[in-house]
Amino acid sequence: MTLRLVLPLPGSEAFSVRLAAAGGFELGGLEFRRFPDGERYLRIDVDPKGRPVDIVCPNADEHFLTLAFVADALRDLGASEVTLVAPYLGYMRQDARFRPGEAVTSRTFARLVSCTVDRLITVDPHLHRFARLEELYEIPCIALRAAPLIGAWIAREVASPLIIGPDAESEQWAAEIATQCGAPYAVLSKTRRGDRDVQIAMPDLGLHGGRQPILIDDIASSGRTLIAASTELRRQGFPAPVCVVVHAIFGGDAFSKASAEALRIVSTDTVAHASNTISVASLIADALAGLSPG
Ligand code: R5P
Repeated sequence: MTLRLVLPLPGSEAFSVRLAAAGGFELGGLEFRRFPDGERYLRIDVDPKGRPVDIVCPNADEHFLTLAFVADALRDLGASEVTLVAPYLGYMRQDARFRPGEAVTSRTFARLVSCTVDRLITVDPHLHRFARLEELYEIPCIALRAAPLIGAWIAREVASPLIIGPDAESEQWAAEIATQCGAPYAVLSKTRRGDRDVQIAMPDLGLHGGRQPILIDDIASSGRTLIAASTELRRQGFPAPVCVVVHAIFGGDAFSKASAEALRIVSTDTVAHASNTISVASLIADALAGLSPG
């Protein structure tokens, strides 16, 4: 059987170690430096000939050109298949032209990635106006769900939880996780007026008084969704919530601001962050192992 080769792009080394260990895959290395003019030098330190290679990319925005160079080099060196492992898949939120002249970056990014690798595997991509990644991407895609891992964590760690999705889109996670923990759930209603301006309306949750609220969201970016939802919960007399997010982006001071409103913030390790508690490495490793030839 041909052993899969995991190749971390800069910044994804720690996750790649966990992934390779979870799947029993070989961990390769990438020599990366900048020439004096700033251009990239890249060298793959393992022979990929005839092998499926999984490139782990932490942040496609910053690393896309590196990804393109490495994927092309791998093919040139005889890799049998090149998979992009993007635990967090960026450029999923600008999925429509809301104002005249805007770039619909979801589509363009998907086209670029589709020309670059043979397959994409990710966790909880932000699917809103598109139902499936295949509506954007022209390559086979695997979208894994972190909900079972999150549900198991809550069932283990929190007594008498009340699962709360802060907006209509989050109902898909909230409902599944609540079923898994045998807890009730509620979905709030969110109006976003700007990147950092979010308003949340909350139904009367008095029926669930005495429960520990758990806010569930796929992404925390500015943290404003978590902060606004926490404020509304406190207004109704609930204790500070435990916030669980799949992708802990937390730009700027978002984490410290959100932490001030929460009992605890927990995330998966799709994005390396101090709040990482739940690992998706085995989830991804199992999916990759299912692709292995032989
Ligand atoms: C929105 O559709 C997402 O599900 C998240 O609620 C949103 O991305 C969170 O962003 P922020 O942390 O900036 O409020």
